[in-house]
Amino acid sequence: MDSQDIRILAIESSCDETAAAVVVGGRDVRSNIISSQIDIHTLYGGVVPEIASRKHIERINQVIGQALETAGMGLDDMDAIAVTYGPGLVGALLVGVAEAKAIAYAKQLPLIGVHHIEGHISANYIENKDLEPPFLCLVVSGGHTHLVNAADYGVYEVIGRTRDDAAGEAFDKAARAIGLGYPGGPKIEKAARSGNPDAIHFPRAKVGGSEYDFSFSGLKSSVLNYLNGCRMKQIPVIGEDVAASFQKAVVDVLVDNAMRAVEQFHAEKFAIAGGVASNSALRSSMEAACRERGVRFYCPSPVLCTDNAAMIGTAAYYEYKKGRRDDWTLNAVPNLKLG
Ligand code: KG4
Ligand code: ZN
Repeated sequence: MDSQDIRILAIESSCDETAAAVVVGGRDVRSNIISSQIDIHTLYGGVVPEIASRKHIERINQVIGQALETAGMGLDDMDAIAVTYGPGLVGALLVGVAEAKAIAYAKQLPLIGVHHIEGHISANYIENKDLEPPFLCLVVSGGHTHLVNAADYGVYEVIGRTRDDAAGEAFDKAARAIGLGYPGGPKIEKAARSGNPDAIHFPRAKVGGSEYDFSFSGLKSSVLNYLNGCRMKQIPVIGEDVAASFQKAVVDVLVDNAMRAVEQFHAEKFAIAGGVASNSALRSSMEAACRERGVRFYCPSPVLCTDNAAMIGTAAYYEYKKGRRDDWTLNAVPNLKLG
């Protein structure tokens, strides 16, 4: 069979989205169904792992059914089943892994376990049919802040990572402190649009040791200290200004580190990925920084930045082409490492 015809059913359930997609030939997304649990977790101010697992169980069959129906295909049309097996919440991951194993076993199809971060990076291939490795990629999500050298398909070298909070986590914590609610990223982005990014100077942390590492916990403390200080001095807090100043501090650090790597690696292509990559301030700053250096910039549409199964199907296609297959011992690995 021509590899352009390979049809993969992909499943993603590592956090709070139950998702399934049908991807043909690696980059042709025939369906991409995402059932978000945000409404339920908002009641608790963050993702509650127990609830996430239970909701995945309730929804996964329906989401897969919808993915196949939208693609106009059935399980018998599939050539492989792909699933995120880590990193993520163990109970949430297990739902997807058990489902994928059951389908693969029943239909006698190859099973391919996919690394969630490899999925995020691969989201860039979907709308950029000409993009090929090598390129540098900044993965910024709720659980990860990784600067990755994508040397080849499935070959990754992590050159920088956060020492403490992930960028998305920092957005979520800052939003909670300002009183904007969950999920923090989109709420901060919206508030920041009517705020002054230069109103408050928050620190841009430099990390000793590895040149490309990040740290966001100091920034989070500065936001909390600023808010407490205002309360104690009975100065009114302008939430929009805090949001805009915080967002600028995060974006500055991400752009600075990424561009230092771009220059030292003589990268010709640079991509961003993960939930925070849907932030328009980050996208435009990265794009401008790349343009100044004559580097091609890539970023997926927002719906492909946040968790989805299409990106898992794309990553799985390149693993499949390399001949990688998993067997029935595939298990959820909550702290799975990349590279
Ligand atoms: O990739 P993702 O959907 O899930 C993980 O793998 O973690 O990322 C979710 C994270 C959350 O922390 C959320 O606040 C952040 O991405 N996020 C954003 C935006 N949209 C989502 N952060 C900043 N600006 C946004 N527009
Ligand atoms: Zn993710």
